[in-house]
Amino acid sequence: MIDTTKLLILALCGVVTSLLLSYKQVGALYRKYGTFYKSYLSFSNPPTPNQSRKSSYSKKDGDPQVAAEPTPLMITPEQVKSYDDRPWRPFRWPYHQTMSIFKLEINHWLDMDKYYWHYIKEKERIWFKYGKENIDWLPEGYEPSLELMETVTDHMLKRYPLCFTLIEDRGKDGKIVKNELTEEVIDMSRPLKEHPLLYVTKMAKEDFYLVMKNPKDDLHYLVAAAVPFPGGSFGINHKIGKHLDVIHNDVPYYHEKLKTSMERWFGRLTPSSPVERASWYMTWDHKLRQNNVYKEPELTEQVKKEALTMDPKDFHVRVERQTLRRLPRTQAIIFTNHPIFYSLDEMKNEPLVPSLIRKIIYEAPEKIIKYKFFEIFRDHIAGYLDELIQRQIDMGLITKETPVKTLPTYPFAHWAEADFDYVNGGFNNPSQKPDHSKEYETSSKDD
Ligand code: HEM
Repeated sequence: MIDTTKLLILALCGVVTSLLLSYKQVGALYRKYGTFYKSYLSFSNPPTPNQSRKSSYSKKDGDPQVAAEPTPLMITPEQVKSYDDRPWRPFRWPYHQTMSIFKLEINHWLDMDKYYWHYIKEKERIWFKYGKENIDWLPEGYEPSLELMETVTDHMLKRYPLCFTLIEDRGKDGKIVKNELTEEVIDMSRPLKEHPLLYVTKMAKEDFYLVMKNPKDDLHYLVAAAVPFPGGSFGINHKIGKHLDVIHNDVPYYHEKLKTSMERWFGRLTPSSPVERASWYMTWDHKLRQNNVYKEPELTEQVKKEALTMDPKDFHVRVERQTLRRLPRTQAIIFTNHPIFYSLDEMKNEPLVPSLIRKIIYEAPEKIIKYKFFEIFRDHIAGYLDELIQRQIDMGLITKETPVKTLPTYPFAHWAEADFDYVNGGFNNPSQKPDHSKEYETSSKDD
């Protein structure tokens, strides 16, 4: 009798404790103490991707026209040198072409990482070598570009106060800012000496697309773009002034699966409801402007030969980390894109990652396989992926029966913490600390 009462009291305490703990706390405890690897073995019903991170654009708390302000991250330029971006793992299975967007915490609009200097240097080189092929604008893109420049400036000053210093605020006549990372003084006094997008490329490592709705047809057009790192084989000069349908013309299943929801969604996007998403493909170089896998179609045979000479261990995933937000004054939609590379080797201890990649490169929808050129190299790297999968089985990270499906921590690695607000160290992979600087230096310049 006493035992039953004790049991009842304990059970009651358990229920009360769980009610008191927020979902986030439970998540944090789970990550800290839970046997994540073991849970995988019996994981039969994972949350649907982004269940807890769904965009909240439908439930607005404040004024939808007011964008959230970032909070300061007191990271120094010295600390940025060893800082890693959030560890993206945007592998989905089942894999359908969907919007796959989730709420963006404004602090992560323009994240920092240790390759910052390389990206900024490359942007300058690409602008001088390729000009309008990568950075271009229409006259109607000027005002949105100006608002973007001001927004990026304010964001950097507020979010990274030790990396950006306000030298002089001349109010309506502009700002002079020092980028403490590159040590460049950026004079944005009016009248500007250069196009606003060029100042943006001196502060942020991301690529930027500026999209405006044309009141004549109510459709969205690309009015300006600073895109030094498209990765693919498209030049911005061919995309500028084009409607999103034309821009996405070659994107698999765009017309069937994306077009309608995208236009509808753009209509609802407000400054207070930014979102992010990530896509990925595989490559064997670290070129930012154009990866070898995306060389022109007439070079496909040559590219194929090159791919087959590469050590499968040198293949990696290029994640395209993207954000979307609306600027309040001009109502322009800002789309950012930023490449981050992860080698297969650095992800080898992460349960199911090799299995997911293998499944996707062979079983993804046909048109996606073609668009991402998986056929060119998949047989070449399949043996290596199989070795990694077997290794995970031997280590007890997964079993042969573990269902291959989207990670519960999608779109991030399982070892990442949830609040992502660290000063020291960023997100170095606990199993090893990869540094891709050498690959960047050797492979970026021969485009
Ligand atoms: C929620 C909004 C959006 C979605 C869901 C989306 C989706 C996609 C997808 C699926 C691709 C194919 C590559 C991949 O697998 O990711 C793609 C490519 C592309 N997107 Fe978007 N996109 C969005 C917004 C935009 C915006 C606002 C722009 C700005 C112009 C843009 C420009 C591009 C470009 C330039 C490409 C490369 C096209 C090519 O291969 O020629 N996207 N997009």
